[in-house]
Amino acid sequence: MFHQLCTLLEKPPLYTKSKAAFWDDEYISKQMLKAHLDPGFEGASRKLDFIDSSAAWIKKTVNPTLYPTLLDIGCGPGIYAERFAKAGYQVTGIDFSKRSIAYAKDMAAQQGLNIKYLYQNYLSMDLKETFDFCTMIYCDYGALSSDDRQIIMSRGYRHLRQGGRFLLDVFSMTEYDAFQEGQSWKMCNGDGFWKDGEYIELSGRYKYPGNVTLEQTIVISDADSAAYYLWNTCFTKDLLIQEALAAGFHVCGIFSDVAGGAYQEECPTIAVLLEK
Ligand SMILES: C[S@@+](CC[C@H](N)C(=O)[O-])C[C@H]1O[C@@H](n2cnc3c(N)ncnc32)[C@H](O)[C@@H]1O
Repeated sequence: MFHQLCTLLEKPPLYTKSKAAFWDDEYISKQMLKAHLDPGFEGASRKLDFIDSSAAWIKKTVNPTLYPTLLDIGCGPGIYAERFAKAGYQVTGIDFSKRSIAYAKDMAAQQGLNIKYLYQNYLSMDLKETFDFCTMIYCDYGALSSDDRQIIMSRGYRHLRQGGRFLLDVFSMTEYDAFQEGQSWKMCNGDGFWKDGEYIELSGRYKYPGNVTLEQTIVISDADSAAYYLWNTCFTKDLLIQEALAAGFHVCGIFSDVAGGAYQEECPTIAVLLEK
């Protein structure tokens, strides 16, 4: 038992992917959808007030008359996509949470919004069309390994017309510096985040070289155990620009967030507006 636990709790090599599904897990996706839709919680989507001002800034900055077709990469339940559609963009949203996409489709139908939602892994997206504008919002880019970030940059590039734009945000070094390493455990009795029923949750928070953090959760129940790894690479402005340039983009603007805040080194996020 001791040996088994030690193996489970080992710090994995950088960017090891969880074998267990996370975003698209039947049970976890229910908790995630709840988190997305909670207007005052920043777990999966940002707070609604921020999203409203962000959508307004995006409309002003990348005008839908000049950039009408928009691909929202990792659209979740469509909170941004709906605002984009109301702002005048022709929106396609892509996400691999079945539950979020089903919810997003329902909501669009209820509001009479013509949004195309695709249930698909964005790392293998290969759509037959190009767009004027791509968005990837709420720091999903930094949750990817360096190889997967290259894939997203080049797939984003490929899905844009010449002169098209790509807006994305990441966590900055301020977030990395504030990240506290530690270990904890918790007993869950039927209303937990990770699975139904009773289980023990063993959590580790670690810093890795290269500005990377890991939130590791081992979930142990009577029946089985599973390990979840949530990676986050934090960025300096220069590193973010370097990855964008390597994919062939030009940088049009650097901001502190996707609501157009002025860039400051101490802000917890960095947003970049790129052009093909
Ligand atoms: C942090 S949430 C942000 C959602 C949305 N952009 C927002 O701000 O409300 C990240 C989203 O990316 C989706 N996602 C993560 N990895 C994905 C992948 N490989 N392919 C497609 N969607 C993915 C998740 O299901 C989730 O909805």
